[in-house]
Amino acid sequence: MAKEFKRVITYGTFDLLHYGHISLLKRAKELGDYLIVALSTDEFNSKMKNKYCYFNYEQRKNLLQAIRYVDLVIPEETWEQKNTDVKEFKIDTFVIGDDWKGKFDFLMEQGVEVVYLPRTPEISTTQIKSELKNGGCLKL
Ligand code: CTP
Repeated sequence: MAKEFKRVITYGTFDLLHYGHISLLKRAKELGDYLIVALSTDEFNSKMKNKYCYFNYEQRKNLLQAIRYVDLVIPEETWEQKNTDVKEFKIDTFVIGDDWKGKFDFLMEQGVEVVYLPRTPEISTTQIKSELKNGGCLKL
């Protein structure tokens, strides 16, 4: 029998929210009924991902909470927390962009469906930062 209420989780930094992020969140929500975003904290970004955000954690969280596809935002503070998050939040599906393909297959051992969605081409936070620095805008 199909499960009635499916919970989906995704992880990321989501700095300078852009249409690639929105597409990922929309498709993630379509995989279930309730979407949790585990949002990388500023400390996790700088220490573990070597990323420095333009918007701080609270600002990024507020932006995500305003997106209709997002039901809950929680902090991502360690790489390992995925193992406990999926239990704590009774997750059915873990989803992330295919730049991470294969990296989180271990969650299947906990009975979680793991989905890698195709990234939206030609857009990223890194690219926005770099194009703006060079005084340009994204070439469409
Ligand atoms: N994502 C996507 N398509 C893009 C950019 C991001 O589907 N063009 C997805 C990623 O695969 C990930 C989520 O959005 O699942 C958050 O990605 P994040 O790393 O925060 O965004 P990027 O724009 O890739 O940021 P950066 O350039 O700093 O890596």
